[in-house]
Amino acid sequence: MQQTIDDALAYARGFIKEGKVATYIPELAKGNPDHVGVCLVTKKGETYHAGDWQQEFTMQSISKTMSLILALELVGYDKVFSKVGVEPTGDAFNSIVKLETKTLHPLNPMINAGAIATASCCVGGEDPFGRFLDLVRTLCGRDTITLNEAVYLSEKKAGMRNRAMAYLMQSENILECDAEEALDLYFKMCSVSIHTQDLANYAVILANDGCHPVTGERIVESWIVRIVKTLMVTCGMYDGSGEFAIKVGIPAKSGVGGGIVASVEGQMGIAAFCPGLDAKGNSIGAYRILEYLSRHLNLHYFAGTDKKVV
Ligand code: DON
Repeated sequence: MQQTIDDALAYARGFIKEGKVATYIPELAKGNPDHVGVCLVTKKGETYHAGDWQQEFTMQSISKTMSLILALELVGYDKVFSKVGVEPTGDAFNSIVKLETKTLHPLNPMINAGAIATASCCVGGEDPFGRFLDLVRTLCGRDTITLNEAVYLSEKKAGMRNRAMAYLMQSENILECDAEEALDLYFKMCSVSIHTQDLANYAVILANDGCHPVTGERIVESWIVRIVKTLMVTCGMYDGSGEFAIKVGIPAKSGVGGGIVASVEGQMGIAAFCPGLDAKGNSIGAYRILEYLSRHLNLHYFAGTDKKVV
């Protein structure tokens, strides 16, 4: 296993020059494009890693899977999905176009507009970000996980597209709270700092129907895990979700910080990190690591018997 992971990293290094670090959030422009890391945690709790696996980065859109868990726990299925749909968009993660031309309800919780609407469902009650951070720490198994204040402030300052979408939704009474409150929580959720082992620990809980792989303790309800993993398949890689499904075939979610988290059903959690992104905002290095692991460990959900590479 360790050899395969080392080989995956070496394979991915051949592609990382093609990536571009996100700059639309100025603080993310400081990411080192040479960082590449991966961590894999099996259902038995065995952990493997390689490269810059302990390098911290911000979750960005990976947080959308966790804010969806929190919203479903807090206000339930009917409320959340009265605000946001469950269909792929085929548009960029920060696109505003469908909000105006199709429906003011954002199409799914994995795009920015959908995640802002989801965050608005978490705002009622005391200390919403504190509750979110507690959930992240539990899912990732690390008590010291915290906010990257510099990235949060940078996002808050630069997030004009998100602000435009939030106000558009507020104008149609889609948000559960004031636009600025929903945005503030959303920006903080995106700015939580983690490393690949944190995310692999989370992904193996998803792979194990919401239960901790070693203790067996239930962390997330099964129906919520099913929804989150399904949306990772259909929308987790944005307008690259279809191609990722064919080439890698693992429920996954990317973030512009350079991370991708992937949950191999009943088997393992994997997280990979490399800050350079493709045109759709998905990390090129992390994508290639997952592609390699899927092919060499036979992880595609429709693996079959023919090893033809596409
Ligand atoms: O709101 C944003 O644009 C970022 N905080 C998150 C976007 C993101 O991670 C898209 N992912 N690939």
